[in-house]
Amino acid sequence: MKSIKEEIEQLKKERDAVILAHYYVADEIQDIADYIGDSYYLSEMATKLPQQTICFAGVTFMGESAKILCPDKTVLLPETLADCPMAGMAEEEKILQIREEYDDLAVVCYINSSAKLKTLSDIIVTSSNAVKIVKALPEKNIYFIPDENLGRYVASQVPEKNFIFNKGFCHVHTSITKENVLKAMEVRPDMEVLVHPECKLEVLEIADYIGSTAGIIDYATKSERQEFLICTELGILHELKRKNPDKLFYSVGHRQFCPNMKKITLEKIKRSLQDMETKVEIEEGLRRRAYMPLKRMLEMAK
Ligand code: 13P
Ligand code: SF4
Repeated sequence: MKSIKEEIEQLKKERDAVILAHYYVADEIQDIADYIGDSYYLSEMATKLPQQTICFAGVTFMGESAKILCPDKTVLLPETLADCPMAGMAEEEKILQIREEYDDLAVVCYINSSAKLKTLSDIIVTSSNAVKIVKALPEKNIYFIPDENLGRYVASQVPEKNFIFNKGFCHVHTSITKENVLKAMEVRPDMEVLVHPECKLEVLEIADYIGSTAGIIDYATKSERQEFLICTELGILHELKRKNPDKLFYSVGHRQFCPNMKKITLEKIKRSLQDMETKVEIEEGLRRRAYMPLKRMLEMAK
């Protein structure tokens, strides 16, 4: 009898499919993925694949972004309930109101957002390219949605611009407090503190490194240090340990766990490829409007 991994391999061939996975999904999913990465890498990779079907092991906005960029491909979500709560944390009315108030304005939208929010934006960013892109924008005023913390981090790196913030947040990253980071540092003072910019500013201020999941992995791998305090979702530990078997990685608290990312299982991936469900479907007018800011990101991030 075939193992579930062998069955998935077989289905991939039959369906001309490829599996993309984010670093926060469960270890066994990362192990069977064809490509694994941060949000930027995965969206860019989606545009380069020869296969006709993309099975996305991540949350809904990731599969949607792949479909927006690659409308001719079939994009499958193995679990439609795996959604990022932050993706809907901005309001159309407020965006329109801010557009009325400011002349020289760019609405900059984190990729962790619904397709609808993307259509209301001038450009999409991810945590790995937000600073670079916002710096290069011609507009002076930036309305950053939906994540307030990433917005405040970008603002700290681009002081020449005027920022308006929105109150969106990630419950996983905001669970990490400065107090708990400092407590951990008392116990193991040799650790380097590696922080995702979705964390609160008070945590960013005491970081040795701030970056996307891929950035954190890269930094830890190149660092001479042996011990690290990881301030992001703990699915990232799988790749960190794989690349650095002799280094030590610590976490701050038990809430560094994204329940939505963990809803993806091997069984659900197998079923998704078997039944070719659930396909991401986006109305064509909406897709086109969401495509423009997303495509602009890929161009400006180069
Ligand atoms: P990155 O992998 O782009 O850093 O994004 C983190 C995240 O929260 C994805 O949901
Ligand atoms: Fe959303 Fe946070 Fe989970 Fe990323 S870790 S998918 S931002 S809830």
